[in-house]
Amino acid sequence: MRFLRPGHHSRKPARTGATWDALSLSNVTYRFGDYTAVKDLSLVIEAGECFGLLGPNGAGKTTIIRLLTTLLPLQDGDASIFGYDVRTQSMAVRRLLGYVPQQLSIEGALTARENVTWFARLYDVPRSERRSRVNEILEMVDLGDVADRVASSFSGGMVRRLELAQALVNRPSLLVLDEPTVGLDPVARDSVWTHVTEMQKQYKMTVLLTTHYMEEAETLCDRVALMHRGELRAVGSPSGLVAELHPAATLEDVFRHFTGDSLASDEKGGLRDVRSARSTAHRLG
Ligand SMILES: Nc1ncnc2c1ncn2[C@@H]1O[C@H](COP(=O)(O)OP(=O)(O)OP(=O)(O)O)[C@@H](O)[C@H]1O
Ligand SMILES: [Mg+2]
Repeated sequence: MRFLRPGHHSRKPARTGATWDALSLSNVTYRFGDYTAVKDLSLVIEAGECFGLLGPNGAGKTTIIRLLTTLLPLQDGDASIFGYDVRTQSMAVRRLLGYVPQQLSIEGALTARENVTWFARLYDVPRSERRSRVNEILEMVDLGDVADRVASSFSGGMVRRLELAQALVNRPSLLVLDEPTVGLDPVARDSVWTHVTEMQKQYKMTVLLTTHYMEEAETLCDRVALMHRGELRAVGSPSGLVAELHPAATLEDVFRHFTGDSLASDEKGGLRDVRSARSTAHRLG
C-alpha cells in the first residue's frame, strides 16, 4: 500500500499573498546509515511545470521522490508540497499527489478496473463518483476495452498506462513519475507521454518525472535538474543548459558533462542491463 487513507483533512496553511510553489526542498540531506544518498539539496518547482530529475543510477533521484511522497521520513532540511509541510502535514501532502513508483504498483491477479477502483478507495474518491471516475480514467489511458481483463495478461506498455490511471484517479495536483517508460518500446513510451501531457493540460497538474532517456526529457520538460552522487549539479531549461555548454551540444552531452559520463557505465552494470531487467512485462511474469 502506498498511501494510507487519511483520517481527516488538514487545514490549508495561510497564504502569504503569493501562490504556493508546487514543491520546495530546502537543504535536504538523507543518509542510509553511513551512506549519504542526498546532500544538502535545495530546489523549487513552480505550479504547472513539467520538471525532470536526471542523473545516473544511484544519483539519489528515487530517494528524493520517496522523501517528497512521505514514504521516507525527512532527516535534515525541509520540504513542502503546495505549502504543506512534508514532515508535519503528510496526510495533506499525500492527498495532493499521484505517484507512479519505479517498482511495479499493480496487482496482477486483479483486473484493470479493480486495480484502479482500489486506488480510488484508498485516495478517498467519493463513493458516488467512484465508478464514473474509474471508467473515465481507464478510457483516457485507452484501457476501456480491456478494463475487465486481469492485469497479468497486459503488455509492459498497458501496465504502465494502468499505473498512470491509478495515480491519476484522485486528480492529483502533483504527478510524480519515477522512470515511467523504462523497458517500453518507443511506441509504448510515446503513448505514456501523450497521456501524461494530455492530462497535465486537462487537470493543470505539475509533473515531476525521472527518466534515463534524454530525448524524452528534452521534449517534455520545462526544466531539468542534473543530479550526481546526491547533489544537484545543474538546473535549467533543456535548451538553456545545452546552449550554455556548446552550440552543437545535446542534453546527453550536458548529462555527461555534469555526471562524468555515467550514462554509459555505472557501478550496477550499465543502463542497458537495468532497462532489460526492469522490463515491466518481464516483472509481471
Ligand atoms: N534502502 C536503502 N538502503 C541503503 N542504501 C540505499 C537504499 N536505497 C537507496 N540506497 C542507496 O542510495 C543511493 C541513491 O539511490 P536511489 O535509488 O535514490 O538512486 P536513483 O537515482 O533513483 O538511481 P536509479 O537511476 O538506479 O533508479 C544509491 O547508492 C543506493 O544504493
Ligand atoms: Mg531510481
